[in-house]
Amino acid sequence: MTTRASITIKYLISNLILPLAVAFAAANPHRTVLVTGGAGYIGSHTCVELLQTGKYNVVVVDTLDNSCMESLERVRELTGCTKDMLQFRQCDVRDTDTLKSVLDEFPAIDSCIHFAGLKAVGESVANPLMYYDCNIGGTTNLLQNLSTRKIKNFVFSSSATVYGDPEKLPITEDSKLSATNPYGRTKLFVEEILRDCHASNPELWNILILRYFNPIGAHPSGRIGEDPQVCKFMYPS
Ligand SMILES: NC(=O)c1ccc[n+]([C@@H]2O[C@H](COP(=O)([O-])OP(=O)(O)OC[C@H]3O[C@@H](n4cnc5c(N)ncnc54)[C@H](O)[C@@H]3O)[C@@H](O)[C@H]2O)c1
Repeated sequence: MTTRASITIKYLISNLILPLAVAFAAANPHRTVLVTGGAGYIGSHTCVELLQTGKYNVVVVDTLDNSCMESLERVRELTGCTKDMLQFRQCDVRDTDTLKSVLDEFPAIDSCIHFAGLKAVGESVANPLMYYDCNIGGTTNLLQNLSTRKIKNFVFSSSATVYGDPEKLPITEDSKLSATNPYGRTKLFVEEILRDCHASNPELWNILILRYFNPIGAHPSGRIGEDPQVCKFMYPS
């Protein structure tokens, strides 16, 4: 049996997402970030952090299949941002036409943090094609549309699940990669796709992959947390 650790959402945001946001902002202030799956658990906390820097506008695309608009309304409430600073468009990342229209509408987008996807291991075992279609098909469609517009900064929300059943603990970044279920395979395959994209055109792509264990907890205000419609974890946040 694999021993899995959990981290708090606060740890994830302060140690991974926020330093990234600050680094991006330092390099080029007043940027617009496309956050896919931004109404979801990790995405909504990330929107708060991006907006609180005062240096980003955020455009969220989300199907709302596993989230709701209320979370983004609460992000607005927590950050005091205007509607212009946090825009939402209901869009499936597999839907090329809608995605194109979002990118046309917001030409200032120059980076993307990609959270959109399905994440329930059991569901992925029962319905692998749904997972391959959404997580892999969605990502390749997104990458295709970003590359057409030369939007090269891409952060992928992968998972520590790519370490499969680790041979030794603690897991280090260079531990062997494998997958034990279709969900994990989608993360592993997307990581490979990203490596191929970067190898094909290192000038075009600036890619970062985050692999974390299950974050738990909610925003200190208690106003946003995990609100799953589909996937329920052991620790509700
Ligand atoms: N929560 C965790 O424990 C954890 C751990 C490691 C990695 N991840 C990954 O991080 C990402 C975000 O996780 P989360 O916990 O915030 O999940 P979440 O379900 O709360 O958020 C994902 C969001 O993506 C949306 N979505 C799903 N398919 C979509 C599609 N095709 N197009 C547009 N939007 C779509 C959902 O409606 C939801 O709002 C996921 O990719 C997940 O695999 C999560």
